Parts: sequence; structure tokens; C-alpha cells
Amino acid sequence: MTTKFPGAARYVPDTTDLDAMAAAAAHCHGCDLYRDATRTVFGEGPADADTVLVGEQPGNEEDLDGHPFVGPAGRLLDRALADLGVDRDRLYLTNAVKHFRFVERGKRRIHQQPSRTEVVACTPWLTAELDALTPELVICLGAVATRALLGPSAKVTELRGGTVELERHRAGVTVHPSSVLRAPDRHAAYDEFVGDLARLFSVPAPG
Ligand code: URA
Ligand code: SF4
Repeated sequence: MTTKFPGAARYVPDTTDLDAMAAAAAHCHGCDLYRDATRTVFGEGPADADTVLVGEQPGNEEDLDGHPFVGPAGRLLDRALADLGVDRDRLYLTNAVKHFRFVERGKRRIHQQPSRTEVVACTPWLTAELDALTPELVICLGAVATRALLGPSAKVTELRGGTVELERHRAGVTVHPSSVLRAPDRHAAYDEFVGDLARLFSVPAPG
């Protein structure tokens, strides 16, 4: 770890109280991403959630709003959960990286994938969330979350729709909802995403 990225560990309080964690994360300078982003977007959901969904990082709307999965990807995820009859309010939603990484193009802020170093720097927050929540199932949405939870060589294409037994919980894998929005055949990509989630939640696929 370079001094440029001291990592989040020194900012993580010794508590299993998620509100106290979120309050501490608001002041994290574990990597450079805090400089340009508006705010830390911490995970949200009930402390007794059995299932945790892990995305990549907050997007533009999440960065402005302060809550995870409230932008276009979040709306697609909401639709998928509704189609499956899964109540979002019973899930804990978080991200591998808690600050928005972007480049400015004129007035627009364009999402950039976080680097491996940034993911590693931020992982102590995710670890602390999972230690506090002790979920049964952790669903990785996309490559960044999958690599954060299952290691740098884990591949969504090989693992999607399936689970891996870890010491403390099962990890499930599917694509990121934003990849569905970018897919050439959105309908097919959506159906595959919902199919993965149906298997992971052990509920019937709709339709
Ligand atoms: N994409 C993510 O990965 N996480 C969010 O919170 C929003 C969009
Ligand atoms: Fe801290 Fe993570 Fe934000 Fe980096 S991205 S400053 S490690 S909360």
C-alpha cells in the first residue's frame, strides 16, 4: 500500500453499529476519491438483513443524493426486484467503493471504473459492513464487486447465476444493472439478469 492510498482501515471505527460506521465513513480519506466526489455514499438497509447486494461505486445521482442505487442502475434494479417479488427494504445495499470516481466532460461527470488500488483501499468498509450484518447471502453486482469479494481473478461470465461458499456466507454473482442498460439487446440482458437474481434469491423467475 502506498502512502498515496493509506486505505480505509484507519478510519473504520471499532463498532458493529452501522450508523456509527456510516458517520465515520463520511470523513474517510483512505484514497484520493474523496477529493472530487461530493460525499461518501455508505450502504443502507436493515441491520438484520439476510441478503446484501454489493455494487461498484455510487454513480452521479448517488453522489449528489447520498444514497446507494437511486440513479438509472438503481431504478433498473428496483424493477427487477419488483418483478421477482423481492422487497428492496429487506435488503442491505452497498458498494465496493464508497466514493464516485468520474472524469469531467464539459458539464457532465462521466463514471470511471475504480482501480484495483481504490477497491483495496475501500474494502475495509465493506468488510466492516459484512462483519456487522452477518448476512447469509452476498450478491455481487458486476465485475468490481465480484473481484472485491472473490479475488482479482474471479470472472462474472463464469460465475453468474451461481454461488460460492465462503467462510461466513455464500457469495452470489450476477452482472451490474448498468450493463443491462448498455446492452445491445436490453430485453434479453434484462431477462438474463432477472434469471440470475431468481436463482440467487431462490424465487421463481417471472413470465
Ligand atoms: N451503481 C452502483 O454500482 N452503485 C450504486 O449505488 C449506483 C450505481
Ligand atoms: Fe475512503 Fe473508500 Fe472513499 Fe477512498 S473511496 S476515500 S477508501 S470511503
